[in-house]
Formats: sequence, structure tokens, C-alpha cells
Amino acid sequence: MLFSLDLVSKSIFFIFLWSLPFRSVADDSASSTSYRVEPTPITPQEGIPQRISVYQPYRGGNCHGYRAKDISRTDQGVTGSLELIGSPCYAYGTDYKDLLLNVTYDTEERIHVSIRDANHTQFEFSNRHDIWDAPIYHPSSSVNQFNLLYNFSFNADPFEFWITRKSDGEVLFDTRGHPLIFEDQYIELTTNMVDDYNIYGLAETIHGLRLGNNLTRTFWANDEASPLDQNMYGTHPFYLEQRYKPVDSNSNVNYNSSSEQQKKYTSASHGVLMLTANGMDVLLRPKYLQYRMIGGIIDLYVYAGSEKPQNTITQFIESIGFPQMHQYWTMGFHMCRWGYENISQIMQVRENMRKFNIPIETFWSDIDYMDSLRDFTVDPISYSQEQMIEFFHDIESTHQHYVPIVDAAVYAANPSNRSDDSYGPYYEGIEKDVFLKNPDGSLYIGEVWPGFTVFPDFTNPKVQDYWKHGIQNMSYAFGSNSSSYIPFSGLWLDMNEPSSFCVGSCGSNLVNSNPVHPPFKLPGEPDDLTLNYPEGFNLTNKTEYASASSASLSQYYATATSSMQPVYPTAVPIGQQPKHDINHPPYAINTEQGNHDLANHGVSPNATHHDGTLRYDLFNIYGYGEIKVTHKALTDLQPKVRPFILSRSTFLGSGVYSAHWLGDNHSNWPNMFFSISGMMVFNMLGVPMVGADVCGFQDNADEELCARWMAMGAFSPFYRNHNQLGSIHQEPYLWASVAESSRRAMNIRYSLLPYWYTLFRQASYDGSTLIRPLFFEFPDEPSLAGADRQFLVGDSLLVSPVLEPNTTTVNGVFPGDENTVWYDWYNHTAIEHKPYENKTMDAPLEHINVAIRGNKIIPMQQPAYTTEETRKNPFSLLVALDKQGTAYGNLYADDGVSLTPNATLWVDFSAKSNKLSSSSFGTYNDHVPLANVTILGVSSSPKQVLFNGNIVNSYTYSDSIQELIINNLNNFTSAGAFASNWTITW
Ligand code: GLC
Repeated sequence: MLFSLDLVSKSIFFIFLWSLPFRSVADDSASSTSYRVEPTPITPQEGIPQRISVYQPYRGGNCHGYRAKDISRTDQGVTGSLELIGSPCYAYGTDYKDLLLNVTYDTEERIHVSIRDANHTQFEFSNRHDIWDAPIYHPSSSVNQFNLLYNFSFNADPFEFWITRKSDGEVLFDTRGHPLIFEDQYIELTTNMVDDYNIYGLAETIHGLRLGNNLTRTFWANDEASPLDQNMYGTHPFYLEQRYKPVDSNSNVNYNSSSEQQKKYTSASHGVLMLTANGMDVLLRPKYLQYRMIGGIIDLYVYAGSEKPQNTITQFIESIGFPQMHQYWTMGFHMCRWGYENISQIMQVRENMRKFNIPIETFWSDIDYMDSLRDFTVDPISYSQEQMIEFFHDIESTHQHYVPIVDAAVYAANPSNRSDDSYGPYYEGIEKDVFLKNPDGSLYIGEVWPGFTVFPDFTNPKVQDYWKHGIQNMSYAFGSNSSSYIPFSGLWLDMNEPSSFCVGSCGSNLVNSNPVHPPFKLPGEPDDLTLNYPEGFNLTNKTEYASASSASLSQYYATATSSMQPVYPTAVPIGQQPKHDINHPPYAINTEQGNHDLANHGVSPNATHHDGTLRYDLFNIYGYGEIKVTHKALTDLQPKVRPFILSRSTFLGSGVYSAHWLGDNHSNWPNMFFSISGMMVFNMLGVPMVGADVCGFQDNADEELCARWMAMGAFSPFYRNHNQLGSIHQEPYLWASVAESSRRAMNIRYSLLPYWYTLFRQASYDGSTLIRPLFFEFPDEPSLAGADRQFLVGDSLLVSPVLEPNTTTVNGVFPGDENTVWYDWYNHTAIEHKPYENKTMDAPLEHINVAIRGNKIIPMQQPAYTTEETRKNPFSLLVALDKQGTAYGNLYADDGVSLTPNATLWVDFSAKSNKLSSSSFGTYNDHVPLANVTILGVSSSPKQVLFNGNIVNSYTYSDSIQELIINNLNNFTSAGAFASNWTITW
């Protein structure tokens, strides 16, 4: 036993909690009944150690690039061929002698440069519309070349090209001076960069918002918990670049220089996408950015952008697909934990949350609910049908929801164990032949939670029925007795990089041992000493810390050290032809997994899809395939309802079908901080429904961290507390301050639901970001280029969370100029600040600083315990006037469920010259009245207040706050707050 609960809770709630039927860490170690006891790995764990090429002597120095021939320009673009200069240089593969160049003016804003080998030998992702078919392939209108926002220029010998934005002459992409390398397993394309460039994106990784110029971003879908700067679950090879210019000069500026900050700047942004599912490194260096791809072809898209970063993002998201609308309830608070051993524990959480008056919308089940951790099954004892039926009945009556997990891998039945014969999902998949194969045609068998597993080939058309059948059967296993009734409200797709705990097809000859324990200690199992506490815990909880830290971690890590010597896969001298190798390509990308072997801890590159395509070429899109198939399955099963999917692995365009959580973070302060950039970046990538595991997944949370994180989480689009098996519990009622901070922040969140929903609608309409970096709204201020400790929700709310322990203040800026007004959320006073002053604000433990931007109107509703109940409460409007007395805002509403709502409502609000107008478009009406309007920045007491010309008697004015509150509007709006247009004058 490492710690017990009594060591970590200092709140008086502890005595109460001890009596709850949760298991403590002590119980975890004693009774992990769902896991087989023997963790000794019988499978290869380390792979062949690779020397990462980016850290080795460069092999491309002898390459001279290509010469352009037969170039022709048309109104639509440029075509031609490219011929290798000199003999093959064999950088990290074998050079193609002849290439085809195709430049297309896709839209007025977007240009596409593709370069492929003349014989089409290389894998071409853009031919696989069966797997990924985004609007980028279907430009909506014909392009008038006189309206193009960009120019394409080139030199023929050697071939180099550059793309310029016409309006300001900025060179957006520029290969001059960098020879193109195009080989079978290595393609190198380089663009020059401006000094101190500001780029964002290239996800998924844990990094501050601004990526800097000393980073190698690797694209290789990877199951790893929060490795800083390295490759993780998702792949989005797009970046946004923001450039600043002093108003009076044409030179670029060093945004860091404080003296420069006094000047006025203009700015513009553009975007760059390298469309590929192959592995690659992208080198961010002071003078250049370099793509090093290990396969495929070049499919480069440059978005000419705009002065507004949001517009550039719109251009990009429009091309990969605008995100789906999620159901209204998904905006509520979600509670999850790996380690709810039975449904009674979840029911208990439900009761406790109610008792402590902390809203909860959705209960999540991790793999605990499965029978022996196998997909599409339900444990008949701990999650018995009888209890589940009761549970579903209860939560439906209170408008709450349930979302279970589904893993990508399917348990491989042990042929010599007759009790495995009944595991349908395996045998049905074998019969339908839908699993990935080895190159020799045998089944690819890896290892995940249930033991040896197989992996559905989500590119196989036959997998659709198979997967739908699995989901349907799962619904029956949960107690549904009708094909039209699915008791769960969505699905959580995990381990879908896909993860596999060994190297290669490790189970091929071992399935007779199934089920096997994962080849490592699970958290909380005896001798697992990997649980830590957040920084600052040593100060706030001294005794407990001393006791916990006496347990040494070294013992655990000692066993993880490799004994193998690294090898360099292309140990041929520079200039000689490297050997073609799929699992160990000559160019070793900087993937983070142990030993950098591509076949380690994931399904290996040589696994084969139904049509013979190697996973090597589709590596990064597996999760996306699963999302799409699941989305269709759910739509087939419930045709009218918007499917809700939460996926760990994502690819370009995943937001069209799915939400994303930021994966296995840790319960510590840096992870809370990095989650802000994570959310900002996924919003830029068209996946607006995103959030981190609040309070942290791995390790133990403490009271302070959890109080702060629950508050910040209330300002995440996706708000879920999730926690690892074996870690101490972190339900928000467990500590007094966490309960209080959660209640306060949720009160704000739920009152803002109409605002959030409107933001989601805007995102699905034009790619607007919900969690927005400050520079998106204030693009001409260079000091904001890297600001990522504060964030905006939409364009109206500025959140300044506390991101470190042991403090009761927080610093932040209030961007804008002398004319910008910010009001404090709580007391409604205008915040005194100088533009860009780093202001210190009070931030007691249970308080999160939120400011409202002058010039904005925010629709709200009186908060209740669930989103459904909140929707039935009266509306209110918060009108934050700017110094000119004007403000604008809007509202979107529909039934919150339907895939295609039969009625919708848009409302435009505008306030100026002491008059607030509401104009409605559309017929959706939930017959909820408007209760009150609060107007901030009203400089004098009104003589009278009129609603549509009728006198309103009930209002109050505060001179000190300059606030006008108009009450009792219900009578004027009993037909529905926005059923007709109205005006209020004061
Ligand atoms: C993975 C998921 C995590 C989940 C766990 C067990 O680590 O990322 O959220 O709790 O698997 O299913």
C-alpha cells in the first residue's frame, strides 16, 4: 500500500466519505478482481532501438534537387514535370528520377501544390477518398484568377517555388535555397521562415501555444501520457502563422522586445497544411521549417489568410469540414473514473453530487463495466442488467446521461478455451474478415487491456455492419430490449491510435495463453510506485508528503531501463542506397515510444489493410476511421439524433464527427497550464468540443489543484473530471473547497449555456473558435503572440485561471486600447487597468477571475441542476456597453438534439444610444420568457425604461457601479423571450 485516503484529505468531509463504498488505494491493491494477476511480460516490449535521424549526421547534403521541364500555366494553375539533377543521392531512400508538378488554384484563398512520382508508385493519400473525403477536394465555385489572393512563382533549375500574398507582398511559403528530395521512403520539403516566427498548431503535442523555432514535431499517432513536445494521439499537420509589422515600416519585428511594444503594429496571418497520413518529422528551426516525410507524396495547401487569425482558421476549417453540432446536454458536467468497480459506486456518486448540490449531467464508464475488459460486453455481476436497467431509468427521469468506453482492439478468443467460444465480436469479425492482417495474410495480433487482441480494419467497407452490430449488442447487454432504444447517450473511443502494448504482431503464436495481463503493473497494483502528488502538495500537506515520498520510485523505473544498444537502421555510408524497410525505415522519425521502434506500443507499420495498403501509409488515420464508422453506426441506430463521440486519436477533420479530450494528463500544475493551449489549438483545428481530464488523470490530485482545475474546467467546452485506476478519488465533493469552487464555477457555466451553445453553432457554421487565444481578438498586439495563461471564451469573456499552487492572486492582462472596457464578472464594475499592464488580481481558492468585454451582449439562463432544467428557466441578457454605449451579441437555439432540427432560431442583439434591440430569425421557440436585462456601463440613472414603448416599472440603477438592472420582463415576453422582435429603451 502506498498511501491511504486518510493521509490526503484534510477536509472534514473525510469522515463522511470513508463510509462510502469507494475503494481506496489499499483496496485496489488487495482486490483488483477484473485483472489477471500475473503481469510478467511474455511479449517483446522494446523493439529494435533506432537512432533518431534528426540527431544523426544529415544524409541529404549531396542532393541537388530537381529541374523543372515543360511547365505550363493556365487559369487554373501550373503543371509540369521535374527531373532529378545528377545521380540519386540516396539521402534516406531511393530517389525518383521523374516527378509531376501540379499546382491548382483551389479557391481564391487556397492554393494546392502537389508533387508526385511520374509513375504513381508512391502511395497517394489524396486518391483515398473512401477513407478521407473532405471539402478540400471539392472546391465549391470556379475560381476567377484575377481575384486570387496569392501568386505562385518558381525558378526552374533547380526547381524552387514561393507563394506570395498579393495584398501585402508577404512570402508565405518559400523553398528557395533548399533542394527538394523525393525518395521512396523520404521526402524533404523546406520553407524559409521569417525571424522569430509565430506559428501555432502542428498538433497533437503538449507545448505552449506558440511553438517557437527550436522544436521537432513528429507525426506518428502514439499512446503516451503527456510527453512534453512529443508525438501523441492525434495528427493535424496544419499551422497558422501570425506576422506583425510596425505601422510605419515594412520590416518584421521582434515581438519580444518591450520597447517595440509601444509602437503600433499591423498583422496578418496565413495557414499551411501538409496533407498526409504518413509519418513525418517537421523541423522548426530559426531560419526554416522542414518537412521530412517517410512516405506518400507532397500535398501542400497554403491558405492566404487575412488580418484576422480567425478568418484564416475559417479558410482552413472550411476545407477539412466544419465541426458537427453536439447535443445540448454534452455541455453539462461529466464525471468519470477508471476504477468504478460496479454500477453501485456510480449510483453513489450520483447521490453524493446531489447531496452536495454539485450539478452532474453525465456518468461515464471506463473499461470497468466490460466483462473481462472485452469490447461490446457488460460484466453480468458488477454491472448487472437488473441494476443497469434501474440506473438508466433513474438517470433518464432526471435528464442525466451515461457514456461508456469502447476500445479499438477486440479480444482475440483463445481457441483452446471453450468459454471464449461465446465471444461473438471476435468470431463475427473473423467470419466477416474485418481485422488487420500481417503481410503474410495471417491475423495481426497485438496486446491491449483484455490480453491478445485483433484490430478492426476501419477502411474495410465490411467493418461498418460489424461495428454497428457490436454497438447494438452492447446496447442489449446493457438491458435494452428494443433495437430502437440505445440506453447510452454516446460512445467514448479509446486506445485508437491504435495502441498495442507490445512490439508487432506479438500474439501471433501466443493466443493459447489468452487472456494475459497487460505486460506492466496497472496503477494501484502491488509494487506500483508511480503515483505522485502535485507540486505544492509538500507545502500544503507536509506530513502526508513526507510519508508518501518515502516510497521510492527508483525501483519501478529500474526495471524499465533498456539493455539494448541503439542501432542505426541505414548503416550504409552517406551516398549509398539504403535498404527499403517498412518497420524500420532508413529515416528514423523522432517518435517518442520506447526505443523509437515504429512497431512498438502501437499496431506496426507493416500491418495490412483489406486491399493490401500498408498501415505505414495510413498510419495516422486509424482513429479517424473508427470515429467515422462509429458515427455512421450511431446515426443508423438513431437516425434523428446527433451522435456524441469522444475520441482520443484524431486526424484532420475529426471535429466533423467527434469531440476530443486531451488524453492521459497528470494531476499536476504544468498539465493544467498546458491544457489551455491544447484547447486553443484543437479549436483552431475544427474540434471545438475539447477539454482535459479535469483534476488530472495520472497520479493523485490534491485539494488545491482540484479546486482550481474544477473552476477552470467550467470554462472548457468539454468539462469532464477523469481519474486513473489506483489514484485517490477526486469527485468534486471530496474536499470542501473543491465542492465550493465547483458549485460557483458551474453556476456560471450553466447560466452561460445559451452563450456556449451559440458559440458551438458558430463553430459549426464558420469554424469560429470557442476557446480563443487573446491574439485572435487583438491581432495587432505582438506581446499577445504567445499569451496562453489566459483565454477567451468566444469573443466576450476573458478567463484568468490560477495555474500554480500556494497563491491567492493571479496576474493577467486586459487587452485592447484605452477605449476597451472590461467588467468584472462578479461585481460588474469596470476593471481599472492600463492596456497590457500585467495586473495582479485577487484569486482566493474558490474563485476564478472572469471578465466581460465591453461591447458584448451575452445571452444567459437561470442555472439549474441539469442542462435540461436550465433550458426551462427564464432567459436574461447581460449587456456590457463600451465607452460609446454600444454592444452586440447573438443567440442560437434549437431543440438541442436533432441531427436536422425542424426549427431553429437566431437572435441578433444590438445596443446603442440607450436602446437595446432584439431581432429574431427563425421559428424555434421554447416558450421561455425573458426575466431581466442587466446593462453595464450606463452612466446615469434613466428617467424611464420602456419595453416596446410600454413603461417598465421594475428596474434598479446603481450609480457607483453604473449598472442598470431591468426586472420583471416576463409579462412582456410570456410568449417566449424571442418569439418576436422587441426594443428596450432607457
Ligand atoms: C487510456 C485512456 C484513459 C482510460 C484508460 C483505461 O489510458 O486514455 O482515459 O482511463 O485507458 O481505459
